[in-house]
Amino acid sequence: MTSGSAPVKEYGMIAIGSGSAVSVLDSWLRTHPGERGAVIDKDSPGGICLTRGCIPSKMLTSVADVIRTVQRAPEFGLSVRDVRVDFARVMKRLHDHIDPEIEAIRQGLSQAREIDYYPETVEFVAPYTLRTARGERLRAPRILLGLGSEPRLPPIPGLAESEPLTSDTVFDLRELPDRLTILGGGYIAAEFAHIFSSFGSEVTVIGRNPRLLPREDPEISEVVTQELGKRVRLLRGRTPRRIRRTRRGSLTIDLGAEDGQPAEDVEADRILVATGRGSTSHHLHPERGGIDTDPQGWIRVNEYLETRQPGIYALGDATGVWPFKHKANYDARILHEALVNGRRIPVDYHAIPHAVFTDPEVASVGWTEEQARAQVPSSELLVGRYEYRHTAKGEALGVHHGLVKVLVRRNGLEILGAHIVGPQASILLQEVVNLLYTPDRSALPILQGLHIHPALSEVVERAFLSLRPLEDPPARSPP
Ligand SMILES: Cc1cc2nc3c(=O)[nH]c(=O)nc-3n(C[C@H](O)[C@H](O)[C@H](O)COP(=O)(O)OP(=O)(O)OC[C@H]3O[C@@H](n4cnc5c(N)ncnc54)[C@H](O)[C@@H]3O)c2cc1C
Ligand SMILES: NC(=O)c1ccc[n+]([C@@H]2O[C@H](COP(=O)([O-])OP(=O)(O)OC[C@H]3O[C@@H](n4cnc5c(N)ncnc54)[C@H](OP(=O)(O)O)[C@@H]3O)[C@@H](O)[C@H]2O)c1
Repeated sequence: MTSGSAPVKEYGMIAIGSGSAVSVLDSWLRTHPGERGAVIDKDSPGGICLTRGCIPSKMLTSVADVIRTVQRAPEFGLSVRDVRVDFARVMKRLHDHIDPEIEAIRQGLSQAREIDYYPETVEFVAPYTLRTARGERLRAPRILLGLGSEPRLPPIPGLAESEPLTSDTVFDLRELPDRLTILGGGYIAAEFAHIFSSFGSEVTVIGRNPRLLPREDPEISEVVTQELGKRVRLLRGRTPRRIRRTRRGSLTIDLGAEDGQPAEDVEADRILVATGRGSTSHHLHPERGGIDTDPQGWIRVNEYLETRQPGIYALGDATGVWPFKHKANYDARILHEALVNGRRIPVDYHAIPHAVFTDPEVASVGWTEEQARAQVPSSELLVGRYEYRHTAKGEALGVHHGLVKVLVRRNGLEILGAHIVGPQASILLQEVVNLLYTPDRSALPILQGLHIHPALSEVVERAFLSLRPLEDPPARSPP
């Protein structure tokens, strides 16, 4: 069959994006012998999480965590000589881990008999019909849009000329910058401020919001702002006006006077932009495929992840909600059920957890206090708080700043939100997340279950044991 001059290649299913979408394609092909599929990705195969997201960033936050632990040795009565960071070896360790995995995925996709792999950009030319950058035309009745997201650069004069790093390029850095300025105040800013300050760079973080991680419960983001602020220069409530390169090759970030703060120039060797991520759909031209997007370009889907075109689905970051790998994997499970098992199940995003692997670590699920107050009468709300340092293990670890905060509905003890800042926050939260996937979402199993003594899980237990009406003054943790 032809369309225009180029022959059209027909497939049973096409996956655009080689992250979570590929698992759906794989299982569909396994259960549909004789069918063929295509995988298209303009970047390294394996998806953002592996190639330039979760995995490489956590390879670095883990190194930063080790450095911070060693730096605290004197608190434990140990003398350790200064930690010296061999940046080249740290980056080699990272690439020794991810590059072979990427290569294995490339080989797997290239050699799979039932899959054609297109390492290039693709765009819609008509509903169900795509054209690759090299001009090949592909068609399928089932198309998975696992398009991911990409860094968004703010329109600051001089920024593009300053050769800024983004999370797409930072993992290729060969030299540790002496002075790094990070623009933004969210996940990436908080994680990379931890990484580079631990490695020895002088780090400045410039952000619009008074607090880092402004979407977290304020009590949590306040702790992060205070603690990270001890190692990093935080310039909050500021917007860069212009960036210039000096004659000596360094960069000057010009901060105008605002909110009573005087004008100021910040000097840097490199800038890392971490001001959020946007849709990649401008590469795809979904409108030509009859697919709707919202004003920001995110693909519009219904609760079954179906676009307006039957057989075309979007998953993961592409839909613009909950841009986390575990949520992309969950979407893939929903599509697996629909396309492989014939069970059309609506997505349920009521309890998508997340963690920020900075220092102190943050993990959270459900409503913040402000969100809970907006949804539930205050008289119905219970809040529990507990500090790590008031548990035996927290004390043994010398945790001065950690906190667990939980929000519960008085009637039925339904868990509404849980927020943790401190060591192992991501692991400690899981106990609460699992209860949010039970029918009544009740906190009772935590209140009734035994917690190992002396383990950090006692902080979570005691946060729930300290539940009291929101209006009451917070109880003092026992000495
Ligand atoms: C620095 C960083 C750290 C992160 N850390 C975490 C973390 O710790 N935990 C967590 O849960 N999440 C984390 N994330 C988020 C996580 O990486 C994403 O949520 C996840 O990778 C999204 O997967 P996906 O399957 O939606 O898209 P992916 O498959 O990962 O990406 C889509 C791919 O499709 C390609 N593509 C898009 N359009 C086209 C087109 N038209 N033609 C060809 N190819 C196209 C893109 O180039 C991209 O390679 C992090 C992200 C970043 C940037
Ligand atoms: N551990 C993890 O799970 C993890 C780690 C890294 C990345 N990620 C994923 O990657 C996504 C992107 O991370 P991110 O840190 O870039 O985004 P983010 O968490 O959404 O934070 C973006 C920050 O940039 C600021 N900002 C936005 N536009 C700006 C502008 N024009 N000028 C100055 N500041 C601006 C925002 O400030 P305001 O608050 O003022 O708007 C916000 O603080 C995250 O949402 C997350 O899904 C996840």
